[in-house]
Amino acid sequence: MDIKAVILAAGKGTRMKSETTPKVLHEIMGKTLLGYVLDNVKNFSSEEFVIVGHHAQDVESFVQKNYDNAKTVLQSPQLGTGHAVSMVCPSLENYDGLVLILCGDTPLVQEKTLKDFVEFHKSQKSDLTVMSTLFDDPTNYGRIIRESDNSLKCIVEEKDATIEQKAVKEVNAGIYCLNWAKIKHAFGQLTSNNAQGEYYLTDIISWGKAQNLSVNAYILENSDEIYGINSRANLAQATKMMNRRNLEKYMENGVTIVDPDSTWISEDTIIGQDTIVYPSTYIEGKNIIGKNCKIGPCAHLRGDVEVCNNVKIGNFVEVKKAKICSNTNVGHLSYIGDAQLGENVNIGAGTITANYNPLTKTKSKTIIEDDAKIGSNSVLVAPVTVEQGANVGAGGIITKDVQAWSLAVTRSPLKVLENWVKKQIQK
Ligand code: UD1
Ligand code: CA
Repeated sequence: MDIKAVILAAGKGTRMKSETTPKVLHEIMGKTLLGYVLDNVKNFSSEEFVIVGHHAQDVESFVQKNYDNAKTVLQSPQLGTGHAVSMVCPSLENYDGLVLILCGDTPLVQEKTLKDFVEFHKSQKSDLTVMSTLFDDPTNYGRIIRESDNSLKCIVEEKDATIEQKAVKEVNAGIYCLNWAKIKHAFGQLTSNNAQGEYYLTDIISWGKAQNLSVNAYILENSDEIYGINSRANLAQATKMMNRRNLEKYMENGVTIVDPDSTWISEDTIIGQDTIVYPSTYIEGKNIIGKNCKIGPCAHLRGDVEVCNNVKIGNFVEVKKAKICSNTNVGHLSYIGDAQLGENVNIGAGTITANYNPLTKTKSKTIIEDDAKIGSNSVLVAPVTVEQGANVGAGGIITKDVQAWSLAVTRSPLKVLENWVKKQIQK
């Protein structure tokens, strides 16, 4: 059965207190919250609709740039989560497959969980399934209210809940699976008689019950996955949770993480066996790291980095958009950006690839071929190539290509004034 996804991303995110960035474009280790949600559905949904509103243009251009099958639908003004979903009704007028609804502020949900959820919906022959979980502290989430026979009754928001309802620990994850042809009729009938004066998506539960449809809840055991981000404190907490999960995965696959408490590695990084990641290392965005590498301590990989086997990226080295081939060392205090490094290259301490021209605001590439050696404290002014086997003397400012197997030196000759100090003292 066809599955289409609707992702709610129009809200202001008031509690984030951000003037410049809509909530769903805040990032966890180099990837936006919305990016996580889209990546987790795009492999099994045929089309994704992202509801945009607050900072709509920013969210729209993010989606257009990164996701081919996703469309954006404008919700203006933003009258609540139920109103948000109703925006796709015209696009799905004759659709009769499944619709999976997700929130753009819930980045920890995993693809497998969503697939299991849809399978549950199908196996129960459900018309409407909501994902729920149990939280020790359910504050701020919608509460799942059940009948005395334990079947679903409705969802009550924190602001509308009675004291007894607030004590309920089963909460709404904000993820729903709908048989669209049946549930779509709810969206013309939602009302806003509630504490927030909004059209709540959660009201489709009681609506479905009233229509005698099959309405079920899928209780997710790992409640961490549905942790929603409403504030900066939530963002920090979610980053920690995601990092912990990633590090566990790497360790399981045979990567040594010396100090998980001070190491940060993004979900979209692949690391080969027997690589060791030393403390205080930060790896964000998409990267591939080979086997038997040593990364850190205090290294920063900023994304689009490809590292082959037996590579050393040492302390205080920053790498961005670069390929580093096997057996190459970048040991200390260097910046490698927009660069390609061959095999058996040695980069001396303090080497900089000067990739950015602030006058033209353009970036250029540095290519260092196999077996080249770059002396300490050198600046490679891109675009520039150091050909195979060439050496650059320490302190080199390299503005032209260096031919294979040559030596480039830019240093002024060393003068030693004998007894100069002694003479000064005697004066
Ligand atoms: C919502 C649920 C709550 C659930 C929680 C799970 C409702 C009424 N409440 O509460 O039951 O426990 O999520 O995280 O649905 N949005 C729009 N347009 C709007 C309003 C919101 O697109 O008009 C988007 C937001 O950008 C956000 C998502 O919908 O991505 C959820 O909105 P938010 O305000 O965060 O709802 P919660 O209070 O977290
Ligand atoms: Ca939320």
